[in-house]
Amino acid sequence: MSLIDRFGEHLERGRGAGSPAGVPSSAASEVTTPADPEPTRSLAPTAGADRSPDISLNNALGAAADPAPQHPEPLVVVEDIAKSFDVSEPWLNRVIERKPRTLLRAVDGVSFEIPRGRTLALVGESGCGKSTVARLLVGLYKPSRGRVHFDGTDLSSLSPAAARPLRAQMQMIFQDPYASLNPRWKVADIIAEPIRVHRLIASPDGVRARVEALLRHVGLAAADAEKYPHQFSGGQRQRLSIARALASQPRFLVCDEPTSALDVSVQAQVLNLMREIQQADGLTYLFISHNLAVVHHVSDEVGVMYLGRIVELAPKSILFERPRHPYTRMLLDAIPDTRMSGTARTPVAGEVPNPLNPPSGCTFHPRCPLANDRCRSERPLLQTLSDGAKVACHAVEEGRS
Ligand SMILES: Nc1ncnc2c1ncn2[C@@H]1O[C@H](COP(=O)(O)OP(=O)(O)OP(=O)(O)O)[C@@H](O)[C@H]1O
Ligand code: SF4
Ligand SMILES: [Mg+2]
Repeated sequence: MSLIDRFGEHLERGRGAGSPAGVPSSAASEVTTPADPEPTRSLAPTAGADRSPDISLNNALGAAADPAPQHPEPLVVVEDIAKSFDVSEPWLNRVIERKPRTLLRAVDGVSFEIPRGRTLALVGESGCGKSTVARLLVGLYKPSRGRVHFDGTDLSSLSPAAARPLRAQMQMIFQDPYASLNPRWKVADIIAEPIRVHRLIASPDGVRARVEALLRHVGLAAADAEKYPHQFSGGQRQRLSIARALASQPRFLVCDEPTSALDVSVQAQVLNLMREIQQADGLTYLFISHNLAVVHHVSDEVGVMYLGRIVELAPKSILFERPRHPYTRMLLDAIPDTRMSGTARTPVAGEVPNPLNPPSGCTFHPRCPLANDRCRSERPLLQTLSDGAKVACHAVEEGRS
């Protein structure tokens, strides 16, 4: 049994055992309104365990779930985005030593679409540009090139003020729930901040009711609003991060390694919660992880990144069953075989090259068993195969993979 299967089993067990994912599907139709602040379902918390979430938040607050998992237009369209960082030495050093500016291409020509209500996962080794893509999408970085369209609008065509209402619909959950929550603020203020910033609810009572509904939505108690972040476990803190991200009624969540700082059992709870919320609220996710078992569980489509570019982009089932790119195969071959079946597992070979001095042609060629002269000189472009997978590899194109 592979790690992916094991992790899937773990998640399924969690769903049947009163974990957040154990919320019956009928719970999605339960209604909690600000005027009815009592939880629709109250499970007494057990030590170390989280409550089941009240999963009907958006309907309860009158915010329609994204109407449109069937909408033909993708919610997010990313078109050839790139981001370079200026990592030059200080000006005086450069003048004295006659050195040019140094640019690091963290992301170099990434394109993808995410249909409404679906999850695109990005995977790749450390430093391949996953977080930079995430930050470009939510506006924390300005692209050096390319465009991000959200719900049909090119965000780069809008002034910051005009983009603000759309930005409120795009929120991000970070890896470290310890660093992303202000330790000096009460939970009530942490979660209410986006509501106040975006002026979504005017009355203090309304804000408080919304905060309490959000807490119940992520499986915490309304009374937790009076606590501080340090009074929660890691998994509970990530629930607080999710509640805060949901506070501005987003339609799109960018999740950057949201569970990698958590224990495996807590990871499963948080992932299941995120999936329940996605289904209840019609959310669209960009999910970043280096853990292929997690990616297999959460994604509909997967993009594999290498040195700032997507080298393979395919529906999950195709990518895991029939990986084409040598790098994707290398990543999948490295998943431990926990069944101890004796199947050889090959660790990921070689190291990621220095992004300041990337290899010529296909940047994967120094590590690739199929590299030839063409690979060393010509950069492969993403090409769409007959089953819809997109792969950037000369060997795949030439049928020698
Ligand atoms: N603000 C910055 N200034 C300079 N270089 C940066 C900056 N942010 C990222 N980089 C560089 O850009 C590249 C991509 O970084 P990024 O954080 O996007 O990778 P990642 O795939 O998220 O890695 P990890 O899995 O370790 O989180 C790396 O080489 C990194 O050092
Ligand atoms: S283009 Fe060449 S070097 Fe790059 S992955 Fe394909 S075979 Fe390997
Ligand atoms: Mg990162």
